[in-house]
Amino acid sequence: MEQPRDQWATKLGLILAMAGNAIGLGNFWRFPYQLASNGGGAFMIPYFIALFFLGIPVMWIEWTIGRYGGKYGHGTLGPMFYLMSRDSLKPRGALWLGVIGGLLGFSVASLLSSYYYQIIGWSAAYTYYSLTGAYFGQDTYKFFVSYISNTNAVLFFWGLTMVILGIAVAQGVSKGIERWVKVMMPTLYVFAIILVIRALTLGSPVKPEWSAIKGLEYIWRPDFQTLSHNFFKISLAAAGQIFFTLSLGMGIIHNYASYLGPEDDVALSGLATVSLNEFAEVILGGSLAIPIAFAYLGPEKAIKSGVGLAYMSLPNVFMNMPAGQIFGAFWFLLLWFAGFTSAIATYNYLVAMLEEDIHIERKKGTWLVFIWLFILGLPIALDKTLLVLTDMDMWVGSYFLVILGFFDVVVGLWLFGIDRFWEELHKGAYINIPGWFKPIMVYIAPLYMLILLGGNTWDYIKNGVITLSPAYIQDLVKNQALVSTTEAYAKHAVTISRAMIIVVIIIGAIEAYMAIKKKYGEELEKNEVLIRV
Ligand code: TRP
Repeated sequence: MEQPRDQWATKLGLILAMAGNAIGLGNFWRFPYQLASNGGGAFMIPYFIALFFLGIPVMWIEWTIGRYGGKYGHGTLGPMFYLMSRDSLKPRGALWLGVIGGLLGFSVASLLSSYYYQIIGWSAAYTYYSLTGAYFGQDTYKFFVSYISNTNAVLFFWGLTMVILGIAVAQGVSKGIERWVKVMMPTLYVFAIILVIRALTLGSPVKPEWSAIKGLEYIWRPDFQTLSHNFFKISLAAAGQIFFTLSLGMGIIHNYASYLGPEDDVALSGLATVSLNEFAEVILGGSLAIPIAFAYLGPEKAIKSGVGLAYMSLPNVFMNMPAGQIFGAFWFLLLWFAGFTSAIATYNYLVAMLEEDIHIERKKGTWLVFIWLFILGLPIALDKTLLVLTDMDMWVGSYFLVILGFFDVVVGLWLFGIDRFWEELHKGAYINIPGWFKPIMVYIAPLYMLILLGGNTWDYIKNGVITLSPAYIQDLVKNQALVSTTEAYAKHAVTISRAMIIVVIIIGAIEAYMAIKKKYGEELEKNEVLIRV
């Protein structure tokens, strides 16, 4: 007899877990630099458009798919996609959508974690270095490079983070994840609010014309001119950020929603997740890195900091700020908490897969996943140029997410049936979603994603990303590598990243195929739906 499936113990716990899932490094590290490098106020316009036409619809779809899969005892995408397509495609056709869902979910959860956990590890290290004042008075760029090259330190802080993650996940959903987020999420908000107050009261410590408020102006003054000049590029970046920050296209919203009861609200809860995340992103995240950097480094340097904003530019600020050791530690601990409560979700996805498909007990599964993620993370931890990470992020962090999101619509709406989906979404719902939102979900959101995919693909072809053209390799060496390196090394790094991606996709496809075959073998044989709950 199988044990009954774990469920969220409290509504508050569920909401905090979902908020923790969405609120991550994306809000405090990725958002500010995307914003800064895409024209500030120019970025915010397509950002809010994407939030409405893409973020909210896909969020609702993923909650609904997840709760539906949970009813049948599944927390992963393979079986979920199979179940939702089998009525219209017959089981044998649905098997292929299950395989697509399974391979995408598995590869995103595995590969995203392989580099995202590293960045959480950096935050742990920098919390420590802030407290000890290790980078004070130093060139922060050189300090960062020497940290990334210090294999022992990188492995230590990354490993420490993974062990703590493992401990939390091994305890289960209601007894582990839920308890941890109930402490960590309120703490995170408190840290963020303290830092925002500090940021906005900095005044003009360096030059009279530099101030935090100027940073806010840069973000909030709509800039249609910059937008119109780079319309496509900025819109792509904004939509990509919406996907990343809301944890869409990752399989992890589905996974968390699978631990709901069949009649638990998803409509209002999904919207609450979006709201909590957006508050943490545009209000809190937006009022930290950029305004602080504007006050201490000036607009020009702040905008140019790019990916290095959180880890290379801000340390410059903390070392010059009164009580900078404490504020620096707050900032990096904030990043660590934010990253941790997100990372727990991809970790749980993989553990759920072992638990449900192969019946491996959770504790054992947790440590198997630990080993898996350690193997995948190692090439990234050992790469001082960060080129493996860069290449992987380009494919997984911006491309795969959108493909997965597109299949959400194909399966959850088109194949499952639009009216049936609408009914499912409203089961036990606390709010009624207005009917005019239906066409947004059915047509506009998927069209948006197709344009995104087309735009990205075009970009990759044009820049020779796919074929590793010499020009692309030179660009990696010159502009993307953290330390100076050679073309041969860059090629090698990118090859590793691509090889990892291909191997993980193949494993994911085989796993999903076998899992669905095992559980729904009889259905597939007769090619008719037999199992219903
Ligand atoms: N929404 C998250 C963020 O903003 C992204 C995320 C959630 C994530 N869980 C993850 C990324 C696990 C990598 C691994 O950061």
